[in-house]
Amino acid sequence: MMKAMVMRQFGGIEELRMENVAVPTPGEGELLLKTSYAGVNPVDWKIREGFLASALPHEFPLILGWDVAGTVLSVGEGVSQFSVGDRVYAYTRKPTVQWGTYAEFVTVSESAAALTPHTLTDAQAAGVPLTALTAWQGLFDFAQLKAKQVVLIHAGAGGVGGFAIQFAKSMGATVITTATKAKHPYLVDLGADIVIDYSTEDFAQQVRELYPEGIDVVFDGVGGTTLARSFDLLKPKGVLVSIVDTPDVTVAQEKNVKAGFVFVAPNGAQLAHISALLDSHTVKALPVEILPLVRAQEAHVKSQSHRTVGKMVLEVAIPCVSM
Ligand SMILES: NC(=O)c1ccc[n+]([C@@H]2O[C@H](COP(=O)([O-])OP(=O)(O)OC[C@H]3O[C@@H](n4cnc5c(N)ncnc54)[C@H](OP(=O)(O)O)[C@@H]3O)[C@@H](O)[C@H]2O)c1
Repeated sequence: MMKAMVMRQFGGIEELRMENVAVPTPGEGELLLKTSYAGVNPVDWKIREGFLASALPHEFPLILGWDVAGTVLSVGEGVSQFSVGDRVYAYTRKPTVQWGTYAEFVTVSESAAALTPHTLTDAQAAGVPLTALTAWQGLFDFAQLKAKQVVLIHAGAGGVGGFAIQFAKSMGATVITTATKAKHPYLVDLGADIVIDYSTEDFAQQVRELYPEGIDVVFDGVGGTTLARSFDLLKPKGVLVSIVDTPDVTVAQEKNVKAGFVFVAPNGAQLAHISALLDSHTVKALPVEILPLVRAQEAHVKSQSHRTVGKMVLEVAIPCVSM
């Protein structure tokens, strides 16, 4: 048996309860990991509340959590890339939401996993996979961001924004980002060229004054009116990618821009590439706030506030492999 934060129905934080449940068995092509840390993402509380009930197949009892850093305990048939004892991390989303990472043990497809960057602690690593892959797939797979282009990244102080800023800079792009004033030094430290306080300034007016000819890419981590108002900032043939809402295709056609919603997909090969960027110090891990698994309810309250900087991770077990 293992300890896990289990939900028996959708609802408030009180639905998160520590229980003893059976340890999952790794299937073909899967690894069984001993979890060191589970990353917390806004999608966790969105699932908990039932906001994604019709979008994502799910089954109860349900264990939340899609990010993990841990150690390989055993491997299923056909696993070829990883061995028992390896330090790995992963964005573990499966077709059905049920066996997540808020647990002492979790299975993950080897195609979703990568070796943990040797320069990172397991706590830092657990904050990487989902957010970094989202930034990567949005900026490069969808928007095809290139050197010397100008990109506006909304919500730079969040988990996704922190990686998006760094990836865009490492590609040679100019980065504009948005956050409240107190977070500006943090964003400049991550590499942002221009930071706009969206709470006291009109971000659209600021960008238009700086780039009257328009910018190349908007990466939207806010949605709603922020997304809608971003269309006007793009050059013709520019790209608007949102990770929160689906952009209006009619507006996109009228403005002659490409616009779309990206839902991050697990991808071990991309994560291995991101590991190399972290180990070479091309990008750095985001600051992490660590809470024990037993305080998952508090982590959800903080995440739901939309105000956290960097990442929050839940300590499940002290890593059993030395670095
Ligand atoms: N589609 C996908 O695959 C995918 C993947 C990952 C995340 N997401 C979604 O993308 C969003 C961001 O995710 P995340 O993990 O980065 O969230 P997060 O870490 O919770 O983001 C928190 C940050 O957002 C900033 N923020 C909040 N409202 C803002 C606004 N109106 N303008 C600018 N910044 C604002 C806050 O800074 P201030 O306090 O300075 O405002 C805060 O530091 C969430 O809704 C999440 O569910 C989607």
